Amino acid sequence: MAKIDFGGVLEEVITTEEITLEKARELLKNEIVAVLGYGVQGPGQALNLRDNGINVIVGQRKGTASWDRAVADGFVPDKTLFPLEEAAEKGTVVQFLLSDAGQVALWPTLKKFLNEGDALYFSHGFSIVYKDQTGIIPPKNIDVILVAPKGSGRTVRTNFLDGSGINSSFAIFQDYTGRAKERTLALGIAIGSGYLFRTTFENEVYSDLTGERGVLLGCLSGVMEAQYTTLRKNGHSPSEAFNETVEELTQSLIRLVAESGMDWMFGNCSTTAQRGALDWAPRFRDAVLPLFDQLYESVLSGKETKRVLEANSAPDYREKLQKELDEMKNSEMWKTGEAVRALRPENRK
Ligand SMILES: NC(=O)c1ccc[n+]([C@@H]2O[C@H](COP(=O)([O-])OP(=O)(O)OC[C@H]3O[C@@H](n4cnc5c(N)ncnc54)[C@H](OP(=O)(O)O)[C@@H]3O)[C@@H](O)[C@H]2O)c1
Repeated sequence: MAKIDFGGVLEEVITTEEITLEKARELLKNEIVAVLGYGVQGPGQALNLRDNGINVIVGQRKGTASWDRAVADGFVPDKTLFPLEEAAEKGTVVQFLLSDAGQVALWPTLKKFLNEGDALYFSHGFSIVYKDQTGIIPPKNIDVILVAPKGSGRTVRTNFLDGSGINSSFAIFQDYTGRAKERTLALGIAIGSGYLFRTTFENEVYSDLTGERGVLLGCLSGVMEAQYTTLRKNGHSPSEAFNETVEELTQSLIRLVAESGMDWMFGNCSTTAQRGALDWAPRFRDAVLPLFDQLYESVLSGKETKRVLEANSAPDYREKLQKELDEMKNSEMWKTGEAVRALRPENRK
């Protein structure tokens, strides 16, 4: 395990230099990895494992669109694709990749199919950490491990295909076999992680729920809308407001931030932009800091997970989510976005 200096803090990371793919295959050669759930993470991880030569089967409810997708992706019913219970019974590693609310619903069934020495694998700390809400308390005679890719399941797959990988955190909650760590790291490499960094189930879920409600999605979407609204209120056209808020960010600036960091980005824009951004960054930081503290507290107290479980366990939860997503899609800002994207040279005939 290499120690890397992250801005003065030493942290352990694992890359394919520490655990090569060969080594991961060796460590997993006697395992049957059952990926339960073929939603977003399921396909990414299952396909990468399969392409990396790991013995993988998929468990999915029959007669669903997700089952058909697994078939289209080359999983064969009764050979490598099974109903959830059957796959769980066959697996020595059970990757629990149902939606978090789905995990709660399946748990009473799943726990009957876990055999001594199996590994129960999560990609989120949710179910274990909020056990008072989920009721998911694993038996003592199995390993309980986590590999959480820091990105969408889609990029788990696309980054694997383009050779870049996606960073993941890993954690061990319960080590019954004495092999929990090697199993975790081997699986982390085999699902296509770029590098793996250590966390705990608690820290994974607290940071993940904060991140997605914050900068990654909630806050980003909120501040984009706020700036767009201000520009529109002051008479700017939709295309000007959208270009200045979203298109310039996604098509230019954020790519440069990804390559070289925000300090470099500041240093390589006009001195007019630098002066203004340096003045305004602390003001935005101070304005939203109390909101982030509130958000973290809401995560920690279990209020966020309670809301997720209540909302997403309703039979019509998908329709309800879709209704809200459609409102966003049909707003002037994102309709403008659709028109702006269609005008990109690569999208024009
Ligand atoms: N989305 C991501 O990119 C991402 C990133 C990092 C970590 N994670 C974590 O990875 C895990 C999987 O997330 P996901 O986003 O891939 O989930 P998802 O797409 O919402 O999961 C859908 C899967 O769960 C199944 N499912 C839902 N409710 C069910 C129920 N009551 N009974 C049986 N099956 C049910 C669905 O089957 P049907 O099609 O039959 O409904 C489908 O296979 C979660 O712990 C999540 O927090 C996700």
